[in-house]
Amino acid sequence: MTRLHKVVFPVAGLGTRFLPATKVVPKEMLPVLDRPLIQYAVDEAVDAGADTLVFVTNRYKHAIADYFDSAYELEETLEHAGKRKLLATIQGLLPLRVRCIYVTQERARGLGHAVLCARAVIGDEPFGIILPDDLILNDGPGALRQMAGRAADGKTGVLAVEEVPYADTGKYGIVDVEPGGDRIRHMVEKPSPAEAPSNLAVVGRYVLPPRIFDLLETTTPGAGGEIQLTDAIAALLKETPVLAHRFAGQRFDCGNKAGMVRATLHVAAADPELRHLVTGLPGTS
Ligand code: UTP
Repeated sequence: MTRLHKVVFPVAGLGTRFLPATKVVPKEMLPVLDRPLIQYAVDEAVDAGADTLVFVTNRYKHAIADYFDSAYELEETLEHAGKRKLLATIQGLLPLRVRCIYVTQERARGLGHAVLCARAVIGDEPFGIILPDDLILNDGPGALRQMAGRAADGKTGVLAVEEVPYADTGKYGIVDVEPGGDRIRHMVEKPSPAEAPSNLAVVGRYVLPPRIFDLLETTTPGAGGEIQLTDAIAALLKETPVLAHRFAGQRFDCGNKAGMVRATLHVAAADPELRHLVTGLPGTS
């Protein structure tokens, strides 16, 4: 397996679709049942071989660092009470070999800018990106691990893609893939259905070579006045192969309420103690 040593989690967005909760609670800390979104994302990175997790955060997101820190008093109380199972749930959040690094994005200037903030930590090696609000669940290798295996030469980029209804192309980066293959020829951010080159949408997993940082440095603000990662990738694919990876797994867009509800029903349906509450409800098949 090709390991991805470093994975970036851009979590400095404003999370406006979950206000008022996200006034105080970072979107990434919202739980699907009892585990916050960031935990699912980190598990996927560790599954892909990561030993360095880079969180691009801001001053409102301290809860993420607190979550991965040890909680001495709580641990001691559980230990004394003999609650070993509960203790294990808070002690095993990350394997010991994994370290967390926090970098700040002072202002939300777009996803591309957030990724650029991680440059000094990533250095000169390929890396992964996970957007935690795109939750991808499956029983086999995680989506990022599947992608790492396709970028073994260290220069190829890989983007996770999924077919979406044409009516939704305006919510995504949309790719145009060479006929009969998966090399991306062209990519557009949030096109209208009429302008979309296909209905293959990029979702929140990327494997990119470090060259992307040079391209981000020169990317000017695009759609919405933000520095778009899509624009830098559009420049990258003129220089080096960038592949569209149709991942194995089910994606839930937990950046909006409907996706969050669907993900919760899905995870509850797999839980022997909760299954009876949700079977038969839409979204749990
Ligand atoms: P979104 O488009 O989902 O924006 O960002 P958002 O701010 O998180 O949420 P809404 O739309 O206001 O509800 C996609 C990803 O990029 C990160 C977000 O944290 C999220 O993981 N991001 C976005 C940044 O880290 N910095 C930015 O400046 C913008």
